[in-house]
Amino acid sequence: MSSKLKNTRLIRTLFGEAVDMTPVWMMRQAGRYLPEYRATREKAGDFVTLCQTPDLACEVTMQPLKRYPLDAAILFSDILTIPDAMGLGLELIESVGPIFDNPIKSLADIKNLPTPDPEDDLGYVMDAVRLIRKELDGSVPLIGFAGSPWTLATYMIEGGSSKDFGKIKKMLYQEPNTLHLLLKHLADAVSLYLNAQISAGAQVIQIFDTWGGVLSTPAYHEFSLAYMKQIINQLKREYAGEKIPVILFTKGAGCWIEDIANTGCDAVGLDWMQDIGQVRSKVGEQVALQGNMDPAVLKSNPETIRNEVALILENFGQGSGHVFNLGHGITPDIDPENAGVFINAVHELSKQYHNN
Ligand code: CP3
Repeated sequence: MSSKLKNTRLIRTLFGEAVDMTPVWMMRQAGRYLPEYRATREKAGDFVTLCQTPDLACEVTMQPLKRYPLDAAILFSDILTIPDAMGLGLELIESVGPIFDNPIKSLADIKNLPTPDPEDDLGYVMDAVRLIRKELDGSVPLIGFAGSPWTLATYMIEGGSSKDFGKIKKMLYQEPNTLHLLLKHLADAVSLYLNAQISAGAQVIQIFDTWGGVLSTPAYHEFSLAYMKQIINQLKREYAGEKIPVILFTKGAGCWIEDIANTGCDAVGLDWMQDIGQVRSKVGEQVALQGNMDPAVLKSNPETIRNEVALILENFGQGSGHVFNLGHGITPDIDPENAGVFINAVHELSKQYHNN
């Protein structure tokens, strides 16, 4: 565990320190676009079992690192492990998505929710973190993660993925105090869970707020951002003598970037709708930025991919503070060759922006 980190590009960039080239990783880098991932999932039987089997979770975490010179590993797990550990019963149905057998229907359901003990109820995640750290042997840092309370609550109340978020929005406007009770409970559970990941060996933390962007501006502040801020305040920001950077990603954050930068996070994740140059001029002194190529670019060809990478690098401009990523997760239809073209293009084309 004490193995010295060899590739410090990601961590240095998150703290705005000079690097030789722009670090890159991909959201959902271990996933269905890789045939070896599909083979391991087959071996596990199903997705939930894959998440719950530390050996196999470690195996799929390492798969993209064996193919590409990525600057980080991300724990293979899911944001929905917490509601599952609260007793909601997670299943993943092919071409439908995640569903819960016991979604939340009432105030009584919320009052009865347990707070999962990370080392006990979610011990399989902590075991996976420890195994992955051993396997990485200091090659690149390991990113741990969790969903934001708002994003977790959407799945817990809707019972799965949703198009209009009808049930949770009804609760938000009709019984806001009930929703606050759930979000507070989730913020505490997520803080405990992330701190346990840090103790187990996670070296960077990302909070995924996939559905924050469906809220109005005041509702985003009250029901999503406030709880992420609470988590950031409760996180261990230093462990075993190393500082732990925190990345906050709200998809669809549009005009809220300055408020996100003010939460105390170290970096803000951007979706592809944002202009990274403009965002840098607003908050670039305060936080690092992560993103933000449209994942759909990877459907095209090497030339187009390199051009799009070049445009984003140029738009961000000279110096540190940019972690290259996609603006959302890589999709199952991508040719793994194109993912390789993307990663190599970031390294090669970014050198000119780091002349030190
Ligand atoms: O990034 C990584 O490689 C780490 C692994 C990871 C997964 N899910 C694996 C996964 C991470 C970081 C997540 C986070 C997650 N899970 C989010 C937030 C990030 C985002 O994409 O916005 C959300 C909303 C979920 C919930 C979830 N899990 C959904 C909606 C789905 C089904 C839809 C989909 O994209 O397939 C999942 C399943 C899931 N989680 C898969 C993977 C690789 C696909 C499972 C499979 O069929 O093998």
